[in-house]
Amino acid sequence: MNLRFFFVFYNDELMNCGHEGQSIAMGTEVERNSESVKNIKEDDFTKLEQDYRILQEKTQELISERTHIESELRNVKKQAGRLEEEVRHLRAPPLIVGTLQDVLDAGRAIVRSSNGTVFQVSLNQRIDPEMLKPGTRVALNQDSLSLVEVLHDAWDPIVSGSEMVEKPDITYDMVAGLDDEILSVREAIELPLTKPHLFAKVGIKPPKGVLLVGPPGCGKTLLAKAVAHHTKATFIRMVGSELAQKYIGEGGRLVRELFSLAKDKSPSIIFLDEIDAIGAKRLDGSTSGDREVQRTLMQLLAELDGFDELEDVKIIAATNRPDILDDALLRPGRFDRIIEIPIPEEKSRKEIIKLHLSSMNCKGVRIDSISKATDGYSGAELKATCVEAGMIAIRSNRDTVTHKDVVLAIERLNKKKTQSGGTSSPEGLYG
Ligand SMILES: Nc1ncnc2c1ncn2[C@@H]1O[C@H](COP(=O)(O)OP(=O)(O)OP(=O)(O)O)[C@@H](O)[C@H]1O
Ligand SMILES: [Mg+2]
Repeated sequence: MNLRFFFVFYNDELMNCGHEGQSIAMGTEVERNSESVKNIKEDDFTKLEQDYRILQEKTQELISERTHIESELRNVKKQAGRLEEEVRHLRAPPLIVGTLQDVLDAGRAIVRSSNGTVFQVSLNQRIDPEMLKPGTRVALNQDSLSLVEVLHDAWDPIVSGSEMVEKPDITYDMVAGLDDEILSVREAIELPLTKPHLFAKVGIKPPKGVLLVGPPGCGKTLLAKAVAHHTKATFIRMVGSELAQKYIGEGGRLVRELFSLAKDKSPSIIFLDEIDAIGAKRLDGSTSGDREVQRTLMQLLAELDGFDELEDVKIIAATNRPDILDDALLRPGRFDRIIEIPIPEEKSRKEIIKLHLSSMNCKGVRIDSISKATDGYSGAELKATCVEAGMIAIRSNRDTVTHKDVVLAIERLNKKKTQSGGTSSPEGLYG
């Protein structure tokens, strides 16, 4: 009891600075009955007092340190907010797209902007250095050209849009009279993707691709559509003319990105329609536009049979002008199979007519005699004949097509063919 009282008293007195000695003396006086208090020596109190003072000072120190740190934290937060704002500000205006060529050190890099000029620029410290690989596409600030952002999977929209997400609804059954050709294409394109071990067993490298050649309207694009319908692989289709670009290096970049997309999404099939747009023979005396197209072709040649293996990427190309194609494109190793899709023979014509008439409301149409009468017709012309016969039936207010309608349609088409000088140009036929 007494001891507790003393400590309360002692504490009170300590607070009362300046009268410590006196207070302690008073304390001992008040507690004169207690043996234990008497035993406490004067210097013990002084020591305790000192300790207490030291602790108090330390507390003060810590409190002021905390206040200091807190104000510092506030400052840093403010600064971070300002920097965030600055980054947002830098990103907001339209950025220039360029290609990273080299990273000099932690803060500097060399980039090539989209118009071809090379700059040394500063790097945004927030960008992960791992992402900065030569060849990556980057966004640059317009004024300072500093590297603001790394662009991911930066395929040109022409390239990324060429992947067929929705498969066409053309099946192999809808490609009439081309059974051998279908088999050849499937052997060269589908087999290496689905059963590569067959080729490994025999010890040959599977073919890289096929080139479909033949007159217009005989089913080249149609056949490719059927392949796209049946395959599980990614199907990428591109028309040759889309690869012909205006600026130097642009076409080559498109080809490179096209193959990079195909490799990324492998197994995949690339279909290059009308390849003659970029695959024409290279001549000496050409304009600058021609030279750019030739550069695009060279990139294509390098991609088809270059340093990097294509592995699970197969190529189907189609053209109706194989005669103007560059020799390098035709050599084995690039398109291992050149498949001719000819003007249909009588038997094939019969199948094509049968196929197109099957969806029509017909009565008494003799397919045999029609196929005999349409010698030299392409698949597209045969289809046009069927459509024309349907039109004739509609004009005479009937809902069924008769044999006479088809004969009349053939006559009309023949007339148009002879009018246009024997060529089967669409203008001549349908103009
Ligand atoms: N063998 C065929 N079986 C069925 N229809 C065919 C056949 N060949 C051509 N056709 C018809 O002709 C149309 C045009 O054919 P396709 O687009 O395949 O021609 P193409 O060979 O690619 O010609 P081009 O060289 O001019 O591009 C097809 O949509 C189809 O209706
Ligand atoms: Mg075509």
